Amino acid sequence: MNEKPTVSIDKEKCIGCGICAKDCVAKAITIVAGKANVKSECLYCGHCLAVCPCGAVSIPEYDMEEVETYNKDTFHVNPEQLLRSIKYRRSIRDYKPMPVEEEKLNQILQAGRYTATAKNNQDCIFVFVQKELDILKDKVWGFIDDIEKNKKEKKIPREVLPYISFNRQRKKNPEEDYLFRNAPVVMFVASQWPLDAGLASQNMENMANAQGLGVLFDGYLASIADINEELKTWLGIEGKEIRSCMLLGYPNVKYQRTTPKRKAKVIWK
Ligand SMILES: Cc1cc2nc3c(=O)[nH]c(=O)nc-3n(C[C@H](O)[C@H](O)[C@H](O)COP(=O)(O)O)c2cc1C
Repeated sequence: MNEKPTVSIDKEKCIGCGICAKDCVAKAITIVAGKANVKSECLYCGHCLAVCPCGAVSIPEYDMEEVETYNKDTFHVNPEQLLRSIKYRRSIRDYKPMPVEEEKLNQILQAGRYTATAKNNQDCIFVFVQKELDILKDKVWGFIDDIEKNKKEKKIPREVLPYISFNRQRKKNPEEDYLFRNAPVVMFVASQWPLDAGLASQNMENMANAQGLGVLFDGYLASIADINEELKTWLGIEGKEIRSCMLLGYPNVKYQRTTPKRKAKVIWK
């Protein structure tokens, strides 16, 4: 999107009802001479165009073709089914040796992209590695090798020790790969705002599950990738912060039931 997007009001269509002005978080719209009028910059969140009963509002810098008109039958998600799918979601650590189709990756991307962001930042960068997965693995393990080689000169930080043990295990048996498992895809989400990336990632996982795919949030891989600037340059996210890393693929495990969890620590007032 351009630096300065515009909220455009079609004065022919606008009936001056003021619904857009009422829903505008930035109070950027007023009604002047019976028509909506954009008086200042805003978050470009699109509420005005989403709420307009006449379709009079657009933000031309966004792709307006993507806007869908609400329909109760096709937009509604059943709450019981939603909760059941959240309960049935599992971290997947074993994958079928099958690639993930591009259309599915794209739907996962859309689930991330449409997630709420603080102040409508929309600054998450999504990286999908499938074709060049071997290069990624070489770079990550090479980085860990280098840390280990230098260990006599420099003291190895405590947090790096587990990686050295993962590396040894993998060298003994390539199937024991604690960082990459046997997933065909690795996804990274980089963002200045950790929660933005976390929320996007959760929606991505939910979408993957709906597609019959499975995900593992890979905290270890996220951390080691985030401190490797050369790797981040290769990933195309130089200077950015990796907030989440997810393995993705078709699960090679079938869960028969949901898992129990601790009782919620909850305060109702
Ligand atoms: C932020 C985050 C990081 C995680 N990192 C790892 C990881 O590095 N390796 C791993 O095997 N599991 C990782 N997990 C998965 C958790 O261990 C898993 O959620 C937990 O064991 C419960 O299992 P479930 O997700 O199937 O309910 C991570 C989960 C989250 C949310």
